[in-house]
Amino acid sequence: MIQYPEQVKIVEVGPRDGLQNEKSLIETADKIELINQLSETGLSVIEATSFVSPKWVPQMADNREVMNGINRQAGINYPVLTPNMKGFEAALESGAEEVAVFGAASESFSQKNINCSIEDSLKRFEPIMAEAAKHDIKVRGYVSCVLGCPYEGAIDPHTVADVAKILFDMGCYEISLGDTIGVGTPLKAQAMIATVAEKVSIDHLAIHFHDTYGQALSNILACLQLGVQTIDSSVAGLGGCPYAKGASGNVATEDVVYMLHGMGIDTGIDLNKLVSVGQFISKKLGRTPISKVTNALSA
Ligand code: HMG
Ligand code: MG
Repeated sequence: MIQYPEQVKIVEVGPRDGLQNEKSLIETADKIELINQLSETGLSVIEATSFVSPKWVPQMADNREVMNGINRQAGINYPVLTPNMKGFEAALESGAEEVAVFGAASESFSQKNINCSIEDSLKRFEPIMAEAAKHDIKVRGYVSCVLGCPYEGAIDPHTVADVAKILFDMGCYEISLGDTIGVGTPLKAQAMIATVAEKVSIDHLAIHFHDTYGQALSNILACLQLGVQTIDSSVAGLGGCPYAKGASGNVATEDVVYMLHGMGIDTGIDLNKLVSVGQFISKKLGRTPISKVTNALSA
């Protein structure tokens, strides 16, 4: 009998990963409303925005306004992305209590996404870690392209494991493994997780699947079988990475929650409320939610 965890933590990345790739600028008030509504669903982590260069990602230029506008609720973390000290300092001024640094297991993607090599990116994270420790700020670490790169193709799981270990040893409390372009399939996902788990224990690993090829739920199930208990997802299946052409949104949070609850796994999330939030933001963006669960429940 396969053992599954009794509880899973969902990291909602919709307001950041979900919205960062939207072509037309979304009203700051709508972003704030999205986060406030998500805060009422039972989620314990909502990635709110990113403190990256507005020239690179214009959609996230209102990061300070978003952080200052949301009703932060006790018991919910609102992490933000910080690629360098400039971003970290701005995040700190905006009252962020958790940040995320983001590296990659592909040299080419690292260059395209953050304009430096993997090695240089890790060096840039060191002062962030030091400052974060001084201010009692938790740091999450991302590794992108864990199952494939838009520029290099297949990625060696050992490279993923090496980057993950460096981030963990630096002080990241959790390492999120990103299938940035959604090319992974279940057995490859399991093999990658097993390789990384030799260097960073599985209870510190999170999985972050984009659903470009429709494999995300199957990949999640495969990783749950290995004991992963933290899943990143995006309400209404929003998203994509501006530096990964063709990458579609993250797996929809509604679909993940439906699957987990159906398996008797607790998430603490109210699915009906989540569905309403997905409908709200999709309406604002002028499209139907990508979540199959939302579409089934609203048919
Ligand atoms: P750069 O151009 O090499 O930076 O960009 P620089 O240090 O040379 O500075 C150039 C200019 O940018 C300067 O301004 C800096 O002040 C400014 P200027 O003097 O020209 O007016 N600058 C900044 N402004 C605001 N905030 C900052 C910042 N840093 C410098 N933090 C940089 C390097 C990292 C900044 C840039 O490449 C960047 O912002 N990249 C972010 C790209 C991004 O956000 N990608 C999406 C997120 S990652 C993702 O989606 C994957 C993930 O979901 C997991 C997965 O799916 O795999 C996490
Ligand atoms: Mg992503």
